[in-house]
Amino acid sequence: MKYQIFYRIIASATVLVFALTGCSQAEKSADVKSTHDSTNTMKSTEKTDSESSSSEEKNNILIAYFTVAENSGVDAASSASYSDVNGEEKGRIRALAYMIQAETGGELFSVQTSVVYPADGRELIDYADKEQSDNARPELTSHIENLDTYDIIFVGYPNWWYDMPQAMYSFFDEYDFSGKTIIPFNSHNGSRFSDTIETIQELEPNAHIITDGFTVNERDVSDAADDIAEWIDRLGY
Ligand SMILES: Cc1cc2nc3c(=O)[nH]c(=O)nc-3n(C[C@H](O)[C@H](O)[C@H](O)COP(=O)(O)O)c2cc1C
Repeated sequence: MKYQIFYRIIASATVLVFALTGCSQAEKSADVKSTHDSTNTMKSTEKTDSESSSSEEKNNILIAYFTVAENSGVDAASSASYSDVNGEEKGRIRALAYMIQAETGGELFSVQTSVVYPADGRELIDYADKEQSDNARPELTSHIENLDTYDIIFVGYPNWWYDMPQAMYSFFDEYDFSGKTIIPFNSHNGSRFSDTIETIQELEPNAHIITDGFTVNERDVSDAADDIAEWIDRLGY
């Protein structure tokens, strides 16, 4: 029992450090729960929009990812809240998604919610903790169009409290990926994937889940492009 209490204190302190290093001090977002554009479909990035207009780049690969930088209600590009990954201040998971896109030509899809997550690290850590305790299912405001055209879905998310963000549970609730291949990738500050790959297997029992997912410490995301290329090569895409 003493050990459990000790472990919980250490775990909480560690996660707080994750949040503070990961999210920094920056401006506060408006308190949670205002809305993004609910008409948003395939909402991702300017780069995606222009790239997806090129028909020769379209293939059967989708790269779906969640990053708080695109779910906070602040302008991620100009805010100091989010990590600067190779000049892109828009979240580490997004940076990884871009690297995967560079290798595969897949289409990007940003998982977005009607929750406006706090941009302040301390507030975010508490908010995410409560969301997880409540087993919440944040409402999604971006939706995959033409899921049938994709056979391979890369799925990226940060480790939050040793699990996926609850938005990813909403994501897996929304789609039936039966018969498709799911390839997880994530970034973390020490916990790697935790048990999230097993969780995805439970949530999508009829999909083929690649257990050789790509995981990288948040500190090394900027330099991950070569490792991503090697990984994609190993997977055969
Ligand atoms: C709310 C919250 C909880 C986190 N919990 C963990 C954790 O349990 N284990 C871990 O290794 N990293 C944890 N982290 C660190 C993130 O996984 C890491 O910073 C990740 O790179 C964030 O990706 P992003 O920049 O796309 O948001 C946490 C970060 C936040 C904000």
